[in-house]
Amino acid sequence: MGLAFQHFFKIILILSLYISYLHSASVDIQQRKYREVPQVQYASLYNASDEVEELTANNFDQNVYNSNRAWLVEFYNTWCGHCQRYAPTYKGVANYFKHSKDLFVVAAVDCANDINQPLCRYFDIMGYPTLRYFHENFLKGIKNFGVTVDKPSVSNVDENVKTVINTLVSEQKENRAQMLPNLLPYEHNDAFKIFDSVKPEIKYGFLILESDKSILGVDAALTFHNVSSISVRYSEHNEELSSSLEIKEFPALVILNREGSKVEEKIPRIEHAKRYIAAFLKQRDINVDKYIVIHNKKEILEAVKNVGQENLVSKVKEVGDAVFQMDLESTLRVSLGREVARNKVIDGEKLNALRAYLKVLIKYFPLGKRGYFFLNDLLSTVTNTESVSGADLYKLVKDSEKPEQLIWSSPKEWLGCIGSTPAHRRYPCGLWTMFHYLTVQAAERNAGKKEANPKEVLNAMYGYIKYFFGCSDCSQHFQAMAAERNMDKVSSLRDSVMWLWAAHNVVNKRLAGDSTEDPEFPKKQFPTAERCPECRYSNETFKEQQVEKYLRHVYSSINVRYMGSDLGILHMGLEKLTGTSGGGVFTSIDSIIRWLPVAYLGYIYARH
Ligand SMILES: Cc1cc2nc3c(=O)[nH]c(=O)nc-3n(C[C@H](O)[C@H](O)[C@H](O)COP(=O)(O)OP(=O)(O)OC[C@H]3O[C@@H](n4cnc5c(N)ncnc54)[C@H](O)[C@@H]3O)c2cc1C
Ligand SMILES: *[C@@H]1O[C@H](CO)[C@@H](O)[C@H](O)[C@H]1NC(C)=O
Ligand SMILES: *[C@@H]1O[C@H](CO)[C@@H](O)[C@H](O)[C@H]1NC(C)=O
Ligand SMILES: *[C@@H]1O[C@H](CO)[C@@H](O)[C@H](O)[C@H]1NC(C)=O
Repeated sequence: MGLAFQHFFKIILILSLYISYLHSASVDIQQRKYREVPQVQYASLYNASDEVEELTANNFDQNVYNSNRAWLVEFYNTWCGHCQRYAPTYKGVANYFKHSKDLFVVAAVDCANDINQPLCRYFDIMGYPTLRYFHENFLKGIKNFGVTVDKPSVSNVDENVKTVINTLVSEQKENRAQMLPNLLPYEHNDAFKIFDSVKPEIKYGFLILESDKSILGVDAALTFHNVSSISVRYSEHNEELSSSLEIKEFPALVILNREGSKVEEKIPRIEHAKRYIAAFLKQRDINVDKYIVIHNKKEILEAVKNVGQENLVSKVKEVGDAVFQMDLESTLRVSLGREVARNKVIDGEKLNALRAYLKVLIKYFPLGKRGYFFLNDLLSTVTNTESVSGADLYKLVKDSEKPEQLIWSSPKEWLGCIGSTPAHRRYPCGLWTMFHYLTVQAAERNAGKKEANPKEVLNAMYGYIKYFFGCSDCSQHFQAMAAERNMDKVSSLRDSVMWLWAAHNVVNKRLAGDSTEDPEFPKKQFPTAERCPECRYSNETFKEQQVEKYLRHVYSSINVRYMGSDLGILHMGLEKLTGTSGGGVFTSIDSIIRWLPVAYLGYIYARH
């Protein structure tokens, strides 16, 4: 279902790109251009932005014959409507096999291109499109024209992928396609036989148990085929194996180690098996970065909006009290890029406040490694200097927005702080959210550490609000409140969480019913009785112990929602990634638009 959806989305995307292409480049013009300038590259149905490798008469032989890879080749004709309709599907097939391109290539030959005419004639291509499979070490010879592969459906990627998989599996049964990982279903009843007859460096075995035929197991096996310490196998409807592992729900992923124990067991939704595997490997410092693909932020945002365009607000309300990564990042970008950078010169107390703020962010704000280095760069810019200019900081923040920097995982938009109009909520809401989050993070991470400074976050917040928060009214009120409510007497990390909660409620009370209130999000004492019934006595006063528990839950790192955020960026190491097409392991569009917390990925990088 999830996979199907993912492919469906991609097809829509490719289709819409394709339609705009049809509008922009009329067929006639292209044809004329080609006739006039024969050397010009033909306008084919595939190009560098997809995973389909284009072959021509000039390079076909050297690529396909006597190759150590197997090839699937589509012989098509640009002008054939059927081929045009099939092209997005075929791109989907190529995308499915992209991590195993080094072993099995999905390719195409455009028979409408004059130079390919002899080639298409040689292969006796009588109808378009025709798919041919050429096994590894394929030799040129009379009537060696490859095996024709049926196209079961014009538009269903999964069905097409299944057919290709069946071809590969039957090849393996004939002892060919041995360069590919083992794609035959796992037939033993004993799970630990997975370590029999595999290389000794294989430490972990991943068994994906499926109740029926699916393409998940093969997908995972192909994706991770280059990770030398693991073996990925799958079984279909193997009841004895399932019961020996006590698995009752499918699909299931069981992780085994060579020493003979079951390390972990997960019942993933079908599209998540690869993410579990990648997360497992990442935790053990096995490099999986190359499988992590970064999405275009506009595309993410479109996907988010498509989920519930008409009722994003009600969807957010449904989620309840939660922190969204998107809001945290948008807040920080506004805070640094607009509020801090607005200052002509930052020096003296202001500069101290900025340093304290950055130090707290470096410790507790959730970003990937690159984001963490970005914040450190900012900190070193403002350290060991008497003053910095806002313009210099602005430039740094602006540079951080470049997509290739891979610092921000989310579009600069609002989810938890979405307003019913653009004038409502957003940045001020994000600021509260961020500082609550930071106080709870400080409490979470420093639990039991005597030397931790209980006021670290509150002081940083105070400095920020005093010197940088653009709402000067708010700033005055907050400073007055800090004095009135003895912020300086806060003496534990718990107190700092609770102090901010109580202070925020004072502001909520003052602003309830105010003309600035968003009617969709009325100011109430937090948490509401609805959301946390156990947080109040029957006389409506708060039970502080329960409130603390609730705050530690709502603002905990494992409750962060990554809806609309690209986990690939948050989990990335230092390597610069190449290849930015869709379908990464962590970051299928489908996973990006999930509303649930991704609890096991909640921690980002431990830093001290
Ligand atoms: C420091 C500061 C001072 C401000 N002072 C003023 C002011 O003087 N006058 C003015 O008009 N506006 C002020 N604002 C703005 C105002 O408080 C709101 O941020 C803004 O009106 C948007 O409100 P909101 O409905 O999005 O919820 P917000 O009050 O911004 O709250 C954001 C989210 O935090 C959570 N939350 C709410 N209360 C609590 C709590 N007690 N503990 C933990 N979490 C909670 C909820 O999930 C809520 O959606 C201030 C903002 C800040 C950051
Ligand atoms: C690839 O083709 C699509 C349309 O089919 C087009 O939008 C895109 O710009 C092309 N990309 C390249 C790199 O040529
Ligand atoms: C797998 O590893 C081989 C050599 O170790 C390399 O040539 C190949 O490109 C890798 N494949 C992928 C898909 O990264
Ligand atoms: C409400 O009830 C609690 C517990 O019974 C009590 O401690 C508290 O003082 C009461 N508050 C008010 C305002 O009556």
